[in-house]
Amino acid sequence: MKLWGGRFNENTNKDVNDFNSSIRVDKRMYKEDILGSIAHIKMLKAQNILPIDSCKKIEEGLLYLLENIENNNIQIDDDFEDIHSFVEYALTEHIGEAGKMLHTGRSRNDQVALDLKLCLKDNSKLLIKDILDLLKAIHEKASKNIDTIMPGYTHMQKAQPITLAHYFLAYAEMFKRDISRIEDFFKRLDEMPLGSGALATTTYPLDREFVARELNFSKITLNSLDSVSDRDYVIEFLSILSIIMMHLSRWSEEIIIWCTNEFNFIELSDEYSTGSSIMPQKKNPDVAELVRGKTGRVYGDLVTLLTVMKGIPLAYNKDMQEDKEALFDALDTTKLSLITFTGMIKTLKVNKDVMEKSAHGGFTNATDLADYLVKSGIPFRKCHEIVGEIVLYCIEKGICISDMSMCELHKFSKVFKEDVYNEISLENCVNQRKVIGGPSSYSVKIQIKELERLINNY
Ligand code: ARG
Repeated sequence: MKLWGGRFNENTNKDVNDFNSSIRVDKRMYKEDILGSIAHIKMLKAQNILPIDSCKKIEEGLLYLLENIENNNIQIDDDFEDIHSFVEYALTEHIGEAGKMLHTGRSRNDQVALDLKLCLKDNSKLLIKDILDLLKAIHEKASKNIDTIMPGYTHMQKAQPITLAHYFLAYAEMFKRDISRIEDFFKRLDEMPLGSGALATTTYPLDREFVARELNFSKITLNSLDSVSDRDYVIEFLSILSIIMMHLSRWSEEIIIWCTNEFNFIELSDEYSTGSSIMPQKKNPDVAELVRGKTGRVYGDLVTLLTVMKGIPLAYNKDMQEDKEALFDALDTTKLSLITFTGMIKTLKVNKDVMEKSAHGGFTNATDLADYLVKSGIPFRKCHEIVGEIVLYCIEKGICISDMSMCELHKFSKVFKEDVYNEISLENCVNQRKVIGGPSSYSVKIQIKELERLINNY
């Protein structure tokens, strides 16, 4: 059953077999492995490296395997060392001796690099789709909350009024960057490594460009030592996943806070909440908490691989087999987090009144009051001081700025006129911020249009 028994007198120790084997992790790449082998055998045929009928048999046998593994007629046997050993064995069982020709001019070192790249090409496209679903949910929520006023924060202290649409669209920007990061990563991923052999290519006249075309790679790798021992693409992908999780986690943190009785800005749907075994009243934001928690796991996977790779001399070393467990763990975790999180966003209910009421507290219009004074020619620094004194006065009296009478305002500056009340209304504070990127309905609609353009382009 082994691909390399000839040189050995004794059997491998049972524990070493378990320790060495990666099939439980890499069997999910059976499709990539078979498709890679089909491209390889087609090339060997085209280059007259192997007899045509053997190649035909092998190609048909590989297609048969793919179909039957896919529909569960053939089970992948976990006793094999890895998926590559299993496929070659199963092929030879099915078509006979010709199966033993498949590995001509190839090593598992370039084979596994190919499989992994194929797998990441598919998965990075699927991941973009998952992010797009979240962007669609954000688009829907933002469109419905163009005029929903809420307090914006810095240092978790109320700062200036914004709109909920503006807030949602801030997250859209993060996830848009995540998509562009995946696209950028894809360019470097898109180099085909097969033909690099174990480390030093081969003496057969391989046509590597042929294999690249068959498998939709736009280029081939240029150095065989690097090709078989490069895992930058896994590390890059794990970094992208870590950044996506970081974005989801930041948002989760806010969702958890917003669900508290103290904030009460939103309510999560029952579908996306859980209860307590002892406290009957509880409705907990477990999804958001788990996303926050799982972020640590994905970071861990990234650090795992960075650490695995940091001391590896050229070229392939078995340490690198550890890549897949970390990669698949991070990929599965991020995908499930994204999908579940999207459902939670789609179904959450916004308590608009509570948000707006909250924006009235905390003197969120103080900057606008200072800007009002600036318009009458007073230098901003002086206006800042006057409004600071007004805020102190209001805190002592337990009122908002807009509760002050004209007479009270005049104690601080004579330039205040009746129009000040309109000027510092929250609606005005928000809608006067027409600068691109701002919270006004004007600016937010531009952001929504841009988001629509991106969603429709996919
Ligand atoms: N299972 C191995 C991996 O994932 C495949 C390559 C093994 N090559 C070798 N020479 N042992 O890295």
